[in-house]
Amino acid sequence: MNRDKAHKTTFATKLGIIFATAGSAVGLGNIWHFPTTCGQNGGAAFVLIYLIITLLLGIPGMMGEFIIGRNGGKDAVSSYRKAGGKHAYGIIGAAGVLGGSLILGFYSVIAGWCVYYLGLALTDNVLGGQEHINNTFTNLMAPDNYLPCLFSIAFILLTQMIIVRGVRKGIEWASKIMVPTLIMLLILLIGASCSLPNAFDGILFLLHPDFSQVNEQVIFKALGEAFFSLSLGTACLCTYASYFQEDTNLLKSTIHITFIDMAVAIMAGLMIFPAAFSVNVKPDVGPSLVFMTMPNVFEQAFPHSIAYVVSVMFYLLLTIAALTSTISMHEIGTAVISQETPLSRSKAAWVVSAFCSLIGVLSAYSLSHEDFGLFGDSFFNNFDKLTANIMLPLGALCTMLIVGWVMPKEVVMKELTSNGLYPRRELIVKMFYILSRVVCPILIVCILMYKIGII
Ligand code: PHE
Repeated sequence: MNRDKAHKTTFATKLGIIFATAGSAVGLGNIWHFPTTCGQNGGAAFVLIYLIITLLLGIPGMMGEFIIGRNGGKDAVSSYRKAGGKHAYGIIGAAGVLGGSLILGFYSVIAGWCVYYLGLALTDNVLGGQEHINNTFTNLMAPDNYLPCLFSIAFILLTQMIIVRGVRKGIEWASKIMVPTLIMLLILLIGASCSLPNAFDGILFLLHPDFSQVNEQVIFKALGEAFFSLSLGTACLCTYASYFQEDTNLLKSTIHITFIDMAVAIMAGLMIFPAAFSVNVKPDVGPSLVFMTMPNVFEQAFPHSIAYVVSVMFYLLLTIAALTSTISMHEIGTAVISQETPLSRSKAAWVVSAFCSLIGVLSAYSLSHEDFGLFGDSFFNNFDKLTANIMLPLGALCTMLIVGWVMPKEVVMKELTSNGLYPRRELIVKMFYILSRVVCPILIVCILMYKIGII
């Protein structure tokens, strides 16, 4: 009975498909990680490597998940089972669910900080001198402060509120509002940043190609960045593809989504670097960039009233970017539980939220209590490493092998051409098979060996 209740739910519009899936890809990774990693690793040279990797690995990887997802037409476990033709293949979908849920857990901690800072920015409590800015973050991370745990849970529940409204009224509706808002905020912030004196130095730092910095480390960094940024390997894209329409052109959608993801990452750099360089501050990576460096930059660069507006827009941007991604991570698990068990969608969403909140609380607590961790590191870092270094590459590897070697070619062709609606281009088919059968698996095995420390 439960299988019948499942579907065929689809996104209502083509734009909804692009915004929802691009919303999953565009996230905190694009804003607080990509720009600085890029600036420190050869600028435009890094962008070029990232672009090549995206073409070689990102596009076929995303296509692979889309093919499995739309062909399956159901949750990730069912879709991988159908793709592999055996029950056991469902494990790959289940591993994707686990990976997505673990990411949602620790990601919601940072997302919670963003909401907290949005509140502080709105009440004009972020700005106030470098000492005040540093103290605010240090206080948030104090061992007796339970706000990070609470905000992490609150963010997961906020995500759940959207999820339970369903695919069209929840995910698609929210993405159609949030993704354009995010792009508009970015453009406004880039305008403000680039209008400052010496802004051009910042643009140069980001875009000046320095090939002398490129070595194998940089290439592996770009590979890892691409996985996380494109949401590959968690079955998240596969779950969304099960909501695609029959006539959605998978190749075209993949190209649009990848382009949006890259463009947002570069735009984030154009927002951060010109402002930072205009006040002679060197941007760093991660929490200190977002919660300590940037408020300081805004304060030094703009008069107070403008700095106030800019900081509100900045934290709103981060909150929205995080939310469109957490929606997709939550949906993977909610879809599996609601379609594979007798539980309703809303009960399934509660189960996912409960599990992810537990991961979120463990992660948040471990960041403020040094002695609370595993293998000599915080839970937060353990979950981060386990997913980014092992689970995502493994998920993507299995996806490529299934699409390249296990799925019958007619089925892959049916999806690639949307059942004959689009012409079958032999060159694209050939390239897709070379990439998914050989090139991507080899590259991914290299990434795995590098991450585990074998090379
Ligand atoms: N792509 C998102 C980001 O860049 C993170 C993400 C990873 C989302 C895996 C879904 C699944 O922040």
